[in-house]
Amino acid sequence: MHNKITPDIVKKMKIEKQKITALTAYDYSTAQIIDEAGIEIILVGDSAAMVVLGYPTTHEITMTEMSIFTKAVAKGTKRALVVADMPFGSYQTSIKNGTKNACKFIQYGANAVKIEGGSNYIIELTSHLTTQGIPVMSHLGFTPQFLNSIGGYKVQAKESEQAELILNQALKLEQAGAFALVLEMVSEYAAEYISEHLSIPVIGIGAGRYCDGQILVIDDVLGKYKDFTPKFAKKYINLNEMIGTAVKNYIYEVKTRAFPEKTHIFEMQEIEKEKLTYANNKES
Ligand code: KIV
Repeated sequence: MHNKITPDIVKKMKIEKQKITALTAYDYSTAQIIDEAGIEIILVGDSAAMVVLGYPTTHEITMTEMSIFTKAVAKGTKRALVVADMPFGSYQTSIKNGTKNACKFIQYGANAVKIEGGSNYIIELTSHLTTQGIPVMSHLGFTPQFLNSIGGYKVQAKESEQAELILNQALKLEQAGAFALVLEMVSEYAAEYISEHLSIPVIGIGAGRYCDGQILVIDDVLGKYKDFTPKFAKKYINLNEMIGTAVKNYIYEVKTRAFPEKTHIFEMQEIEKEKLTYANNKES
C-alpha cells in the first residue's frame, strides 16, 4: 500500500519541484507516528546526543548508542527513507572504518547514512560508500561535529566566498554519488544559490525558504527539548508544557486516590477470595 521512499524518489521530487519533508526521530513510536503522517525522510540524527541523552554537544554520542536508535526507528518505519547519522569518530579515522560503521547501520535497518563535511577525504568516503550500495546524504554549512573548528553556533555563508566554497564542495559530493545534501544554518541567499546549482535536492535546516526541502529536529517541532531552541525552529505544539500538566494531574490523582479507578483494575472471583488462607486464618 505504501510506496517506500528511495533516494531516486527523493531526487525526482526536486525535478518535479515537490518540497521534500524530513524530521529526526530516535524511537519506535515516534517513527511510526511521523511515518504514518507522511514524512518522506526520517533522520536518526546525532542530535539524539543532546535531546535524548542530555550530552552538551553531538561529539559524545557513540556508534553503540546510535545503533540502538537506528534499530528502533527502522522497525517503526514502513514508508519513509531512514537515514542514520554517522556519529563523531565513526568515520574520521579511515575509509575502512567508516565503511564498516556505515554497513552496520544498513544492517540495522537504515536505508542510507548521513555524513558531515566536504573535505577530499569525505568526498572519497562518499564515493566509496555509494559504489558499495550505501546511499549517502551529505551535510554542509554549519556542521555540529566541527563545532571546535567553527568556534560556536555561527551562521555560515554570509559572505559570497564561503557560499562558493560550500557550492564547490557540494558539487564534488554530488559527483561522488551523494543523493541529497543537508544545508544547516546558512544565509537564505546562499542556500538558494547552492540549491539552484545542484541537481541533487538540498534539505535545509535554518537555510531559508528556497531549499528543495526542510528538516527539523522532532523535539523542537514538538516543543519537548527546552535547553535550547534555535531561531530557525518552529514549535508546532508545546509538548513540554503538556507533559508537565499530565504528570501533575497524575500525581494529584494518585495522592487523592482518584486513580486507579474501577476500570483500571483486575478482578478476582469471590470463590477465589474465599480460598485465601491468610484471610480465613485471620477470621478463625
Ligand atoms: O543530527 C541532526 O539532527 C541533524 C539535523 C540537524 C540535520 O544533523
